[in-house]
Amino acid sequence: SLSLREVKLCLLGDAGVGKSSLVLRFVADSFNENSESTIGASFMSKTLIVEDQTFKYQIWDTAGQEKYRGLAPMYYRNAAAAIIVYEITRKQSFEALKHWVKELRQFGPSNIILAIAGNKSDLESQRQVSSDEAKEYADSIDALFVETSALTADNVSYLFEALSKRLPQE
Ligand code: GTP
Ligand code: MG
Repeated sequence: SLSLREVKLCLLGDAGVGKSSLVLRFVADSFNENSESTIGASFMSKTLIVEDQTFKYQIWDTAGQEKYRGLAPMYYRNAAAAIIVYEITRKQSFEALKHWVKELRQFGPSNIILAIAGNKSDLESQRQVSSDEAKEYADSIDALFVETSALTADNVSYLFEALSKRLPQE
């Protein structure tokens, strides 16, 4: 049966990992080399059809800079899903992701569906976080794990499709 589901989604993660770029790739299939650091948060929506179901994503793209950290709860509150992003080329961003997971576990919605995106997979030669390590961590917290590139578009649609399939049936 055809149904429309509204899904509130929040993106979290360190500054510069590519949250806004992933959203821009997903929503508009484009990429901006000179993407500006987000101020506060930005909102976009996008409709996606997966297996006969229509998902209307309401996407809150948060700002990763430390000074905006305290705003995050406004955006993950009532979220059905969160994508926590790190960049495969910066180990520190992977460590920061673990802090976001802890915060969500403690203060976020109890039934929130989590996805971890290892972005900038096009920069393989600069990799600092192995796929195995990240996958193992994602499995340990029951999160979806996908390595993406907002630049090449690799796995970006897949990320949102796989996430859609993980949402509980209504
Ligand atoms: P904040 O808004 O400050 O939290 O950062 P952000 O996570 O939204 O990062 P943003 O999307 O603005 O991207 C930061 C920089 O990384 C920009 O120069 C992007 O062009 C670049 N970038 C984003 N995604 C990719 C990617 O997949 N590959 C490569 N090579 N560069 C990327
Ligand atoms: Mg941004």
